[in-house]
Amino acid sequence: MSAQIIDGKSLAEKLRGQLKADVAEFQSQTGIVPHLAAVLVGDDPASAVYVRNKQRACEKAGIRSTLHRLPSETTETELLDLVQQLNRDDSVHGILVQLPLPPQIRETAILDAVVPMKDVDCFHPENVGLMVQGRPRYLPCTPSGCQLLIQESGFETAGAHAVILGRSEIVGKPMAMLLVQKGAVANATVTIAHSRTKNLAELVRQADLIVAAIGKPKFVTAEMVKPGACVIDVGINRLDDGTLVGDVDYEAVKEVAGAITPVPGGVGPMTIAMLLQNTLTAARLLS
Ligand SMILES: NC(=O)c1ccc[n+]([C@@H]2O[C@H](COP(=O)([O-])OP(=O)(O)OC[C@H]3O[C@@H](n4cnc5c(N)ncnc54)[C@H](OP(=O)(O)O)[C@@H]3O)[C@@H](O)[C@H]2O)c1
Repeated sequence: MSAQIIDGKSLAEKLRGQLKADVAEFQSQTGIVPHLAAVLVGDDPASAVYVRNKQRACEKAGIRSTLHRLPSETTETELLDLVQQLNRDDSVHGILVQLPLPPQIRETAILDAVVPMKDVDCFHPENVGLMVQGRPRYLPCTPSGCQLLIQESGFETAGAHAVILGRSEIVGKPMAMLLVQKGAVANATVTIAHSRTKNLAELVRQADLIVAAIGKPKFVTAEMVKPGACVIDVGINRLDDGTLVGDVDYEAVKEVAGAITPVPGGVGPMTIAMLLQNTLTAARLLS
């Protein structure tokens, strides 16, 4: 039997519709328009597309968005100056620095400089710490989007063995932290796997829930998936012929899994919806 397809595109649209209503209500009560300032350094085409998609989504939801474009030779000091300026600007509620940054700029130096109240990506150590302790100010966008997809599928996470593939600060680690919390769509027993993990295929086969975030096209094969498992595919990989695929061999795995997210149309749209949600939260917290 083929897996349930978890439709991230339609779930994200539903969330954005609700968010638009929430933004309008907030604006009518306070007179404030939530405002996301995006910073794009250099001319990486993929980053430019990501930022444009986030800006379009803001506009549709009634959130103001401004873009600060800097050349690829920008120095760390120049970027820090811009971040400080946005930190001080009372009209700005959320600051998004699109990653990756050029090699001469230390990402941690920039992300640590964003004032925590405006850190809508939830990258600042203060916000990560609050999230780990189970009292989040903001939820990390991609992992919390995955959580909502899991909830949408009806999969019971409590007591389930979740195997997270990848230990990045953006996806793998915060995903594990959300799933291990006490609470809804959590209470899982979590294993984090990475490039040094031994017997990876055997480990993944034990999982009731798989979250794949490694950036390797079709890495998770049908043989690695326990029948009925819930599979969340975070990966975005462009093949030589231009097609976009995830970290999971979707066509084969959907014949084994209980539920699966497609790429595109799975996690990606949810990440944007959660960013918008965090921007509204920021506007509320700062007003
Ligand atoms: N859909 C979305 O909204 C969204 C958002 C963010 C990222 N992404 C996508 O998700 C993927 C991961 O992103 P990321 O930022 O987390 O990537 P990353 O920072 O490159 O981290 C990749 C992780 O995968 C691990 N890994 C690499 N090869 C492996 C292997 N053969 N076996 C086991 N683990 C392996 C790495 O292990 P080590 O730590 O040992 O090196 C690392 O922890 C990318 O395709 C990215 O484009 C999508």
